[in-house]
Amino acid sequence: MMSESIISLQNVKKNYRHSDGIQTVLDGVNLNIPQGSVFGIIGHSGAGKSTLLRCINGLEKPTSGNVIFKGHQVNKLDNHQMLKIRSEIGMIFQQFNLLPLYTIAENVALPIKYLHLDRNLVHKKVTKVLSLVGLLNKANDYPSSLSGGQKQRAAIARALISQPKIILCDEATSALDPEITGSIIKLLKKLNQQEGITLVVVTHEMKVIEDLCDYVAVLHDGKIIEKGSVYSTFSNPQKSLTQNFVNTVIHLSIDRKSLDAIKLPEHSKLIKILYKKGTTNVPLISIISRKFNVDVNIILGDVDILQGSPFGGLLVALSGDSQNISHTLAYLKQIKSIGLKVIDND
Ligand SMILES: Nc1ncnc2c1ncn2[C@@H]1O[C@H](COP(=O)(O)OP(=O)(O)OP(=O)(O)O)[C@@H](O)[C@H]1O
Ligand SMILES: [Mg+2]
Repeated sequence: MMSESIISLQNVKKNYRHSDGIQTVLDGVNLNIPQGSVFGIIGHSGAGKSTLLRCINGLEKPTSGNVIFKGHQVNKLDNHQMLKIRSEIGMIFQQFNLLPLYTIAENVALPIKYLHLDRNLVHKKVTKVLSLVGLLNKANDYPSSLSGGQKQRAAIARALISQPKIILCDEATSALDPEITGSIIKLLKKLNQQEGITLVVVTHEMKVIEDLCDYVAVLHDGKIIEKGSVYSTFSNPQKSLTQNFVNTVIHLSIDRKSLDAIKLPEHSKLIKILYKKGTTNVPLISIISRKFNVDVNIILGDVDILQGSPFGGLLVALSGDSQNISHTLAYLKQIKSIGLKVIDND
């Protein structure tokens, strides 16, 4: 059973008025974000991702529909209530948004400045979040002396200072190189697992969804066109846009030139075997070669463990007697735990 939602969007619409008319940026978005989950929202540039996040934290008011945060209707709160809710929602951005003339410690303390807390208490809180993100040694440095990854750690510490229940991440790793991205993803995972913070992760990179998220929703032209657990969505995408995103993380395609270079036997059949949940230790390749007397040539393989199950697949060439190959294909087709795709090789 799904745990309780910390955030729900109910038929959220957002229009912007431009000089040449009205643009619908969010077009009836429904989403339930389970408490304690990492929820990814993927979409191309202009899909409405940032607008969606701004509707969640109350920086934008939906044109119609409701945003519910822990039972409160965010778009109906007065300023005082809004301030309280917003302190429970942290936000991090692609550009870090640190103030250059403040030290890291001062930047981190900014969100609680309005509380006028005792200096020692502020110092204690800042020390705690900076050590949580591994940046204690940079407390008195200025943002300009930090690397991109360190700046994002500082921004995460700033988001943590108000002890948020949820952190909204808007392309938080898009400005970082892959290795640094990995370390920030690890940190975000730790905050989710150890501190129980719900994460809403907006990105255009499927790799981030694969490495970090439990659930994913695909946003296209202001509409959620597909959503579900990361595994079910990755292993069985329903929409072509989702399929395109999935294709960016499984590499099972080969161009004609490379294929010709392999010099497969004539009349070989190229097939993709895609893993689905439940593809366990079936020795598929040896079964088919033995049972149907065909040669199986593994050309490419890309298998990852995703949410505890194998995800990805193999690109293989079958060669031998054409009737045997047909029998092999018929056999593979009826196995429910794999997906089969026959590729035209003529
Ligand atoms: N404040 C605003 N006023 C007018 N139009 C806006 C405003 N904010 C966003 N838009 C328009 O809404 C559309 C969606 O923008 P949004 O920033 O939500 O997309 P996005 O999915 O975050 O894109 P990206 O991946 O490039 O960040 C764009 O066409 C944008 O021009
Ligand atoms: Mg954006």
